[in-house]
Amino acid sequence: MFGITSKTGQLLHQDHLNTIATLQKMEEFLVKQTSKRPPDLADEALRRLIKDLATGIDDEITRHFGFEEGHLFPALAEAGESGMTDFLMSEHATIRPIAQDIGRRSREALEKGFTPESWAEYHTIGMEMIEREVFHIQKEEMGLLAAVNALIDADTDAKLSMIFAGA
Ligand SMILES: [Fe+2]
Ligand SMILES: [Fe+2]
Repeated sequence: MFGITSKTGQLLHQDHLNTIATLQKMEEFLVKQTSKRPPDLADEALRRLIKDLATGIDDEITRHFGFEEGHLFPALAEAGESGMTDFLMSEHATIRPIAQDIGRRSREALEKGFTPESWAEYHTIGMEMIEREVFHIQKEEMGLLAAVNALIDADTDAKLSMIFAGA
């Protein structure tokens, strides 16, 4: 991988690594549990896991997506990269409702537990969300971070990284 020269790029990269770790944890959990065996949400450790996963995913689609859409993509579009940012934006638009759905289902399950049906759905939707989000992050790690390196000047980098760090 190329060196990430900007502060904004480094912060994004760190966020991406954290999200990948969350998604990997979720995938391990779903695979281990299988779609056939609803987890027992009387188990404190499992409750915490579901809560942590839901919080991590929510942070990704609000704070992280919000920074990219509200600040980073407009700066890159201004520098001529609107093709890439439009495309990444359309991926956000696909991922966001699936991730929100998982958040809603997680909170509901923490209240009422899973039924075999609600768990099977959670499992399918969760796996789809993980696949899409991991693929999206991989694309950003290549194209987006390279574009940030090449197109964001030092002043804009300072401004963007301050916004992101404060978000
Ligand atoms: Fe993104
Ligand atoms: Fe991102």
